[in-house]
Amino acid sequence: MLPVSRMHTVLSYEVLKDGTEVVIRTVRPDDGALLVEGFAQLGADSRYQRFFTPKSALTDAELDFLTHPDDDRNYVLGALSWTEDGTVRPLGLARYVRVPPALPGAPDGGGPDDVAEAAIVVVDALQGKGLGKLLLKKLAAAAYYRGIRRFRAEVLENNASVHKLVRSLDPGAHVVAHAQGTEILDIALPVPSAIDGRPFRVKARRSAPPAARGPYP
Ligand SMILES: CC(C)(COP(=O)(O)OP(=O)(O)OC[C@H]1O[C@@H](n2cnc3c(N)ncnc32)[C@H](O)[C@@H]1OP(=O)(O)O)[C@@H](O)C(=O)NCCC(=O)NCCS
Repeated sequence: MLPVSRMHTVLSYEVLKDGTEVVIRTVRPDDGALLVEGFAQLGADSRYQRFFTPKSALTDAELDFLTHPDDDRNYVLGALSWTEDGTVRPLGLARYVRVPPALPGAPDGGGPDDVAEAAIVVVDALQGKGLGKLLLKKLAAAAYYRGIRRFRAEVLENNASVHKLVRSLDPGAHVVAHAQGTEILDIALPVPSAIDGRPFRVKARRSAPPAARGPYP
């Protein structure tokens, strides 16, 4: 595991299947407005699939948490597009929160320090173009380098796309608990060097940032 202090912002430029150019980077404290805009790009189904309840807005506490990751316990990646005139559009978000280590004698046992709870969302207009896979790949690699070896993910039982997504990362991902239409998946993280291999082939190509675009957002 590399020391966290040496881990810099994950940043890559990618081109999705449909030609959309995307930058993936860690979320910053001044990203609140982008998160609000991204949430507005989610239809009712996507919101329900992500939060398991009808949801009209992110709360201030959720915004604060997402924009102030500590890089170790909680880690948040955003996917953005941007144009030459400086317009930035939010396209997706992936985050994990490390499950606290078990306290001695705690009745529920907590979890080991190498497990994190992960979640991911892509705006409706970009779903099905490979961005979910890209974000999960980046999140999994960042988590692995920080000592995390397993993700837990709570998902709707009938959420076909997230099941496909998770099993492309870990074909052996399995259900460890059920509750009222949701289930918790246990996902083993591959070593990052294996992520680009066959089981996790991403249908997208990497690109250099176009020089005319100016600095990344
Ligand atoms: C789940 C989600 C993040 C996937 O992101 P995405 O960008 O659409 O995913 P990708 O394009 O990378 O596709 C991932 C896989 O799912 C498949 N898939 C995508 N949309 C699908 C759909 N509607 N039904 C079935 N499979 C689907 C893709 O074909 C792909 O599998 P493949 O590589 O075998 O072809 C996105 O659909 C989403 O944001 N959903 C709402 C929020 C949510 O459900 N979050 C998960 C719970 S935390």
